[in-house]
Amino acid sequence: MEKIIIKGGQKLKGTVKISGAKNSALPILAASLLSEETSIIENVPRLRDINTMKKLLESLGVKVNFEGNSVRVEPGNFVGYEAPYEFVSTMRASICLLGPLLARQRKARISLPGGCVIGTRPIDLHLKGLAALGADIDIRHGYIIARAEQLSGNDNIYLGGPFGSSVLATCNVMMAAVLARGETVIENAACEPEVLDLANFLTKMGAKIKGAGSHRIIIKGVNELKGAKHRIMPDRIETGTYMIAAAITGGNINIVNANLRHISAIADRLKQAGVEIIKIDKKIKVRVKDPIRPVDVTTLPYPGFPTDMQAQMTALMSVTEGISVITEKVFPRRFLHVSELIRMGCRVYLEGSSAIINGIKRLSGAQVMASDLRASAALVLAGLVAEGQTVISRVYHLDRGYERMEEKLAGLGANIKRVKR
Ligand code: UD1
Repeated sequence: MEKIIIKGGQKLKGTVKISGAKNSALPILAASLLSEETSIIENVPRLRDINTMKKLLESLGVKVNFEGNSVRVEPGNFVGYEAPYEFVSTMRASICLLGPLLARQRKARISLPGGCVIGTRPIDLHLKGLAALGADIDIRHGYIIARAEQLSGNDNIYLGGPFGSSVLATCNVMMAAVLARGETVIENAACEPEVLDLANFLTKMGAKIKGAGSHRIIIKGVNELKGAKHRIMPDRIETGTYMIAAAITGGNINIVNANLRHISAIADRLKQAGVEIIKIDKKIKVRVKDPIRPVDVTTLPYPGFPTDMQAQMTALMSVTEGISVITEKVFPRRFLHVSELIRMGCRVYLEGSSAIINGIKRLSGAQVMASDLRASAALVLAGLVAEGQTVISRVYHLDRGYERMEEKLAGLGANIKRVKR
């Protein structure tokens, strides 16, 4: 089992290049099934989740070939329509095959994702949206079984739930609607940049989509789509994580291949905390001159502060003297990193869906365990400033979403290595 060992205390400096966005690449790879022609997707990060999607597509009979960070997807007339439990249990985002399979194969059999460490994570909005397009949906033996001889547009699909919109439900409905007969209007659509990136790819394939990136998306169904070439947008969560890596170590780094517009909420909170963030040409400069100040954070759907940055922000606030309150409004139970941070000396208590942090000067290195993708990033960040050595186990969580993280951090001067034992 691989572990990451960090000796804390190095101020980060230098330049880091951001990879393509995992959360954009996954639905876009799924969307490439919507045509029998070949698509080329560039700037795809080499991650465990992407590899799981590759295996899933191959299991459907699709040819998928990587060359560096470019991937060639040749769906042809693939015959599969199933995403089995073994894949879905390792990657919930497998659910984003539901829309494309239904549109292309007229049927789909996808394992129910079940709960995960950040909460129960229902899929009702995916099912409601696809049923509104005319799909017949049944749940049996732990599987979603969906069928539709011909999907039909629906001019009023409301994709809202108790926690607002859903990113992948919006993606699923959009991917199904592009080949449906007639017009579809998605109300309360998720407006995350990854939804827009998917819409841009679908548009290159010949889809007719307006309004992606806003809360109302209008789609006019077409008879068929062609293959397309597309470059995946930069990963905004990876960008935010390196900004915090600079902030937490009192460093001075340049971030390249990133889009500052996608991370306004993160940059705003960090500036409020005293971090200097400046865009010079194509670089984002992140520098810390004065001690960081505590700030309160509430996670919200885009353009609010992303839930996928909550754990990393908790790590930063745990070494920022003073009181800060971090409230989780997207996945209210997403606080598994807290008990591991406590092992490193973090003073925090949970009150409902908020973490109240009494920041201290320095954490102390310890053996800790990664519990989910972003929680593991928080432990790495904490390790970068902790006194002594931090050993993080179960780093496969990190590999789901961060491309060569320890290499990138070592390139910035961190004392970090991966060991096999
Ligand atoms: C995506 C991201 C994930 C991120 C999340 C929220 C991918 C691959 N993953 O996940 O990294 O943390 O957005 O920004 O893009 N909900 C329902 N019913 C549903 C679906 C969702 O009630 O049918 C709720 C969820 O429980 C949650 C909220 O809606 O409270 C948002 O979840 P959602 O946007 O669906 O997350 P994902 O798309 O799965």
